[in-house]
Amino acid sequence: MKKIITLIIAAAMLLGCAALAGCGKTEEKVLNVYTNAGFAPYEYLDENGKVVGVDIDVVNYIGEKLGYKVVINDIEFNAILNEVSKDKFAVGAAGMSKKPDRDEVALASEVYATSIQYIIAPKGTFEGEKVALADAVAYAAAASVKSIGVQKGTTGADLVAGGIEGTDAKVIEYSNAIIASNDIGSTVCAVVIDKMPAEAICKDKDNLQCWSLDAEMESYVMYFNKDNAELVASVNTILKKMISDGLIDQYTVKHSS
Ligand code: ARG
Repeated sequence: MKKIITLIIAAAMLLGCAALAGCGKTEEKVLNVYTNAGFAPYEYLDENGKVVGVDIDVVNYIGEKLGYKVVINDIEFNAILNEVSKDKFAVGAAGMSKKPDRDEVALASEVYATSIQYIIAPKGTFEGEKVALADAVAYAAAASVKSIGVQKGTTGADLVAGGIEGTDAKVIEYSNAIIASNDIGSTVCAVVIDKMPAEAICKDKDNLQCWSLDAEMESYVMYFNKDNAELVASVNTILKKMISDGLIDQYTVKHSS
């Protein structure tokens, strides 16, 4: 009886296989990466307009190890998790901070970096190295331009939204922090974004300075489709090794210089 069942299953598999075009050829596995360039050193456009950065190096390395062709999609930051939830072989690699509402819709990888929110403002705006959120908000509330710029859908946007409650300060949401920073002095008085992207922006602009906000540390993860715990497990093994081998640090240095 068992033999017959095995035979029937084998026959059914053969038939099913024959019905598929290209059966027998090894199909190329594709990993769809969703990111949002404009967030150096993690993802930014190089001089040829190509998306490069730490996250891109990491997913390319992982893709190579696991035999996936990596396809990079540069989209709005706040649209990333929606794309990930639609496709089993999708991943959000965008310096994404781990947080509970995101964990509800996607599977987080190992933490591969940490960060903290920074504020970018005209040189000399604040004293010292660290600025309390309340002081940043008080500065905005007293400024002639009362809005703080943030990137839509980010943890920085959440932080500022919470901080300005009940004050005269306002917030303007931008599609990325670079565009927001170009508006400092015209439509916003400051911009809040993660540490390294803030430093990259300040490096490029003589009139601006960066300060760390007195906020909580954030942990960067890659977010995968809920139905692909298997992929996350394989990725985590590779990520851990990349971290212990110092590869991620190496990529970070390479993209920060
Ligand atoms: N870490 C922040 C967050 O998760 C900002 C990430 C923005 N990333 C980007 N590629 N633009 O909300």
